[in-house]
Amino acid sequence: MAKRLFIKSYGCQMNVYDAGRMADVMAVHGFAQTDRADEAEVTVLNTCHIREKAAEKLFSDLGRLRRPPRRRARNGWEGARIVVVAGCVAQAEGAEIMRRAPWVDIVVGPQTYHRLPELVRRAEAGERGLLDIDFPPESKFDRLPEEGAAQGPSAFLTIQEGCDKFCSFCVVPYTRGAEHSRPAAAVVAEARRLIERGAREITLLGQNVNAYHGEAPGGGAEWGLARLIRTLADLPGLSRIRYTTSHPRDMDDDLIAAHGELPALMPYLHLPVQSGSDRVLAAMGRRHTGADYVDLVERLRAARPDLALSSDFIVGHPGEEEADFEATMALVRTVGFAQAYSFKYSPRPGTPAAATGNQVGETEKADRLARLQDLLNAQQHEFNRRTVGRTVPVLFDRRGRKPHQLAGRTPAMQAVHVVCRDSESLMGEIRDVFVTEAHSNSLTGELAAMPPPLAHAPRIPGAGRTIA
Ligand code: SAH
Ligand code: SF4
Ligand code: F3S
Repeated sequence: MAKRLFIKSYGCQMNVYDAGRMADVMAVHGFAQTDRADEAEVTVLNTCHIREKAAEKLFSDLGRLRRPPRRRARNGWEGARIVVVAGCVAQAEGAEIMRRAPWVDIVVGPQTYHRLPELVRRAEAGERGLLDIDFPPESKFDRLPEEGAAQGPSAFLTIQEGCDKFCSFCVVPYTRGAEHSRPAAAVVAEARRLIERGAREITLLGQNVNAYHGEAPGGGAEWGLARLIRTLADLPGLSRIRYTTSHPRDMDDDLIAAHGELPALMPYLHLPVQSGSDRVLAAMGRRHTGADYVDLVERLRAARPDLALSSDFIVGHPGEEEADFEATMALVRTVGFAQAYSFKYSPRPGTPAAATGNQVGETEKADRLARLQDLLNAQQHEFNRRTVGRTVPVLFDRRGRKPHQLAGRTPAMQAVHVVCRDSESLMGEIRDVFVTEAHSNSLTGELAAMPPPLAHAPRIPGAGRTIA
């Protein structure tokens, strides 16, 4: 019988993608993935270091793993035999993890997990304290087996890793290492395999995905993201392309033009601005102003008028004053976001912002976050409300919680719930949905009726197919 592998991911989409690739490399060595922690021979905690709260979760889970068997059985960790800490906390605090939690068998970083089977073999043979957190000269992508498990109708594909931007507050350049892009041919080949296994939508991932500059197939000038997306848009069977996370500095003219030209490139863009204050943006080392961002949004909307925008925001970066925060609120009002993520600044070990003296108090941070979130939530709700009464193409990619309920996404990434009789047959399909209700985080709708075939109407090849 296959041994079982349980993986818990705590982080971003790239962290989730890594979990899939760890499962692939372990599958070659006879491990089948399970979603039951209590029956796994190998438990992997695939961690995130981005904010203190994310990192703390690891230590509370590790605490549960240590408890004696009877206690462990009750809280679901009983099966854990070999305990692996992977991901960004592993990279940043590997030695500290081994010191604080000596019952951890293996610590492995985001750039070395292709070596996980060998590490597990050594742990099974009784070795303890195995720590592998280099930034190796080889790329893990050249060592990993082909992706095994199907990701379903909506798949992730990492095309770029690491970051050289060193924003004042951020751990990513330290946890993921220097920026590097995968060769275009490898990306296209992986996309083809994902499509063969049922993907209709692919989200291209990178910490700075629009800084992509991959080796061109057959040599020549490197490809940028726009060139790559144009090629993927021609792959038969792929209906939707997205990319995340992009940096305002790397949004070039070709990529902006692609938004206007490629129907498969979805009209939704996650483009984090972090702050609307030029003073804070400078302190963050973002290398653009609030006006640069607004101008960029205008150019994007000129190319694609229905583009829905999303962003990340940090409130309470060191030195942020009330007037700076007001500038963020003003930028939000100017741009109008369909969705957004906002966070209180969290000092991270080893980053320049954590070492500066002018930290913002917890009360101010909480107050600003609440005000910002009220505004962002109102914008999101309004954006959703504007979809009511319209018919939109939805890619169904999940079962809902209710019987016969399906969940999917609109081109603008809104979650949509639909109840219908033949729900199973619609999984992975794109169908027109008439939106009946808007909620703050999702929409409800009904399948739009297909027009009845007219006996006398001429047959137009391809008519009636949804293309978006
Ligand atoms: N590469 C992306 C961000 C990746 S990290 C970019 O440059 O925009 C994801 C988000 O986490 C960031 O956009 C930021 O809003 C948030 N974040 C990162 N470090 C943080 C910190 N120290 N405190 C609070 N939020 C942080
Ligand atoms: Fe972090 Fe993004 Fe800045 Fe890179 S560009 S350091 S990933 S916030
Ligand atoms: Fe977290 Fe690492 Fe992603 S720190 S956000 S898992 S790159």
